[in-house]
Amino acid sequence: MHTQVAIIGAGPAGLLLSQLLDLAGVDCVLLERRDRDYVEGRIRAGVLEQGTVDLLRAAQVADRLEREGLVHDGIELAFEGRRHRIDFADLTPGKAVTVYGQTEVTKDLINARIARGNPPVFEAEDVEVLDFDGERPRVRYRHNGAAKELSCDFIAGCDGFHGVCRASVPQDSLRIFERVYPFAWLGILTRTKPVSDELIYCRHDNGFALFSMRSPQVSRLYLQVRPDEDLNEWPDDRIWEELKLRVGPEAAAALETGPSFEKSVTPMRSFVAEPLRFGRLFLAGDAGHIVPPTGAKGLNLAAADIHYLSEALVAFYKENRQDLLDTYSDKCLRRIWKAERFSWWMTSLMHRFPGRNPFDDRIQLAELMYVADSRTASTALAENYVGLPYE
Ligand code: FAD
Ligand code: DHB
Repeated sequence: MHTQVAIIGAGPAGLLLSQLLDLAGVDCVLLERRDRDYVEGRIRAGVLEQGTVDLLRAAQVADRLEREGLVHDGIELAFEGRRHRIDFADLTPGKAVTVYGQTEVTKDLINARIARGNPPVFEAEDVEVLDFDGERPRVRYRHNGAAKELSCDFIAGCDGFHGVCRASVPQDSLRIFERVYPFAWLGILTRTKPVSDELIYCRHDNGFALFSMRSPQVSRLYLQVRPDEDLNEWPDDRIWEELKLRVGPEAAAALETGPSFEKSVTPMRSFVAEPLRFGRLFLAGDAGHIVPPTGAKGLNLAAADIHYLSEALVAFYKENRQDLLDTYSDKCLRRIWKAERFSWWMTSLMHRFPGRNPFDDRIQLAELMYVADSRTASTALAENYVGLPYE
């Protein structure tokens, strides 16, 4: 079988690419290793930049997002008993983010792919990407016990950090930039009313905490923990006590508590592979880069890559243009590095680093106070948080 674009991985990146290509009349096949329930149930990001929302609208999957998404035009920073609001509406000006879970984005995209008659091939096993340095790439996989082979014009590697695509590139053709952080986030979901209408990012001597949400009834809460943290040591009561301590007495008094229905630990890393193109293989999303979650950039960066990649592939097929494919990697990497910098900076600003000394502590607090007290510094945070413009 032949297709124009073989897409590996049905996370947000692969699903969005397949929907955009399909709408533009470009033929594609999307292969996903896991089953549908697994893909739809994976709890991850929650904050969408306006550019991501616009792209989902262009992909005709924004109806529910527009009904149920929560538009936020600010966040709060809590530190030293103080709460400071970063007012996006004033500082950016007029920009906002939308709180809508990655699980919901994924469900909406899968439903749209089914409605258009081209759903992902779930449970595609042992995917191999071949010959992408020549004119006729191939993809081999197993499905329902049978060996399959696809020939294609291009391969889109949207298969996440542990996928097969980046690993198939000759390692001397790749340059890797990486930082692994000495902490992780313990995240829970609870059916409790969010403590505030906006997200609260907390810096505390015990470590970072984040108060986020999925809806007016569901809270998403995170605590900085050790990377090797044993979840058995974190019953819900202990989590709530620690959240209260880190957010400060005023918010703690208003905090509604309840049992968690999801609990997991996410390791933190910064990672960039350069370049993002090898012949006819293009990497997009977590397959090419990872950010620590503090700036809420992972999903948004994946969407930005897909904006550029879909545009380049459609220009190739519809206008016979090669130039956007040629500039894809450089254009994405310029934006990726800015998001890497912001995510690293937000992480450094808000977390407790093991081995830090009293001088490091004072510098961290001075930086937070500078952000809170300087309109210029607040603006720099706000314009990165709401999302830098696409080139
Ligand atoms: P993914 O969502 O990873 O999707 C890749 C897909 O490829 C998966 O469905 C996978 O099953 C499939 N796949 C992998 N290998 C193969 C193969 N060999 N063959 C076929 N299919 C394959 N970002 C935030 O902004 N905020 C957060 O709070 C946040 N929390 C996160 C928590 C966790 C545990 C993780 C891992 C990430 C988190 N992120 C967060 C990052 C964000 O979720 C990702 O940036 C986003 O999912 C990237 O989308 P993607 O489509 O590129 O990759
Ligand atoms: C969420 C995750 C983030 O990493 C973040 O910075 C803000 C919100 C969330 O899951 O709600």
